[in-house]
Amino acid sequence: MENITHERLLIIDFGSQVTQLIARRLRELNVYCEIHPYQNVTDAFLADFAPRAVILSGGPDSVTREGSPRAPQSLFDMGIPVLGICYGQQTMMTQLGGKVISGEGTAEFGRAYVTPESKLSLLDGWFAADKEQVWMSHGDHVSEIAPGFAVYGTSPNAPYAITADVARNFYAVQFHPEVHHTPNGAKLYENFVRLAGFTGDWTMGAYREQAIAAIKEQVGNAHVICALSGGVDSSVAAALLHEAIGDQLTCVFVDHGLLRLNEAEEVVGMFRDHMNLKVIHADETELFLGELEGQSDPETKRKIIGKLFIDVFQKYADQIEDAAFLAQGTLYPDVIESVSFSGGPSVTIKSHHNVGGLPEKMGLKLVEPLRELFKDEVRALGVELGLPKSFIGRHPFPGPGLAIRCPGEITREKLEILRKADAVYIDQIRKHGLYDEIWQAFCAILPVRTVGVMGDGRTYDFACALRAVTSVDGMTADYYPFSHEFLGETATRIINEVPGINRVTYDITSKPPGTIEWE
Ligand code: XMP
Repeated sequence: MENITHERLLIIDFGSQVTQLIARRLRELNVYCEIHPYQNVTDAFLADFAPRAVILSGGPDSVTREGSPRAPQSLFDMGIPVLGICYGQQTMMTQLGGKVISGEGTAEFGRAYVTPESKLSLLDGWFAADKEQVWMSHGDHVSEIAPGFAVYGTSPNAPYAITADVARNFYAVQFHPEVHHTPNGAKLYENFVRLAGFTGDWTMGAYREQAIAAIKEQVGNAHVICALSGGVDSSVAAALLHEAIGDQLTCVFVDHGLLRLNEAEEVVGMFRDHMNLKVIHADETELFLGELEGQSDPETKRKIIGKLFIDVFQKYADQIEDAAFLAQGTLYPDVIESVSFSGGPSVTIKSHHNVGGLPEKMGLKLVEPLRELFKDEVRALGVELGLPKSFIGRHPFPGPGLAIRCPGEITREKLEILRKADAVYIDQIRKHGLYDEIWQAFCAILPVRTVGVMGDGRTYDFACALRAVTSVDGMTADYYPFSHEFLGETATRIINEVPGINRVTYDITSKPPGTIEWE
């Protein structure tokens, strides 16, 4: 969003793997910041962005290499506080007249301990013990500090682990305060933003007002359409847009018949009845299940669903007159990723997996009101906008829905059994107070029938698998260690309450080698 009026901090990215974490730490301190790759940060950009302070990130290059990245020299004449981290420290020293060397004895990777030299406001709250654990990851090190700088902390392989030119408010550290392995690192950022005079004006309340104004300005009197999936991002985007432009927003909820028990009614009911949004409930169950009939290959199933989703969305969107914008719930990590990886000045934006390619095809412009937010900030905004906390905290649910939790051929009978079993399982998890500890939990119906005995009779019914994982981002995951008591009780409930299932298993595969979903 343009015209951000909050106090702004600029992070110049030199390509570190953990630059995003710097932004996270700052946002936690209610400081608005943006990450921009060093190639884009020209003198003109700096003047225009007008940051209150700048942080130079780490990076993989060596400042001793000719042509290696630098910060614009004008940065150091702006009279604003600068904090250099790792590579950022080294380029700062080089640009301000110090020296960096590479070679034997200059590298340090992993845990290290810094001891203090003298007092520094940046280090308030540090060295309660005589040393602080920090995380190092550097090949080169500073061998001569720049004029005006003094040393405030050292580590065995970094004689200049913490340096500062207090008069100019320049700080430079060799380690990474943003990672968890620097346990007191957040305190250092807190001190830095305090020294830079930030008041902590980045709150969800303030963001909401500003985002609404920006949406109004971008959209004017035009009509916006939004694909509502029932997930957190599209829901919060829709709620925010609705607050900004009211009836100029129409949402399309594509119901592929692969949703969980009562899900379509709940989502549509919440938006339509409680929030007064215009929602088209596109119930295309027959179309989707018809096309999926007889298909058992996972990729074929996914492709069919993906294609139909776009066709259906387009069909309904075409009926909305004067639609000029398509809303997407793009988040800040998507934006940063594309900047850092492409490295070039033009930002490639990842398309939403469900509506990719549609905006161009339909001649629609994009409105992306969550572009500046991290996932947890989206949740906070959702609560601010009045979405129920239970809805905001829901586990992720995949676009292809129950199709990928029904390995093999999909039938209506199997879907119905799966919905019921899943509902009992989730109810159990909630009753035991475990829902928020688990990243994602669901039930899969297996494509086998097994023999059982119930009462005095023989049964020959489906088996199901329970899945529950802990994860941070879904990229890696571990199975959740339920107690045997919980598992036993849940299996009994499912078998008693769900006709069609006579055997329950618990999936204890981590990712990798497994994936979270079964297909
Ligand atoms: P996997 O199974 O790949 O899943 O370990 C990782 C996370 O992504 C979700 N997932 C999807 N989400 N469309 C989505 O929106 C998809 O096609 C899709 N496939 C998997 C999955 O639920 C898990 O949270």
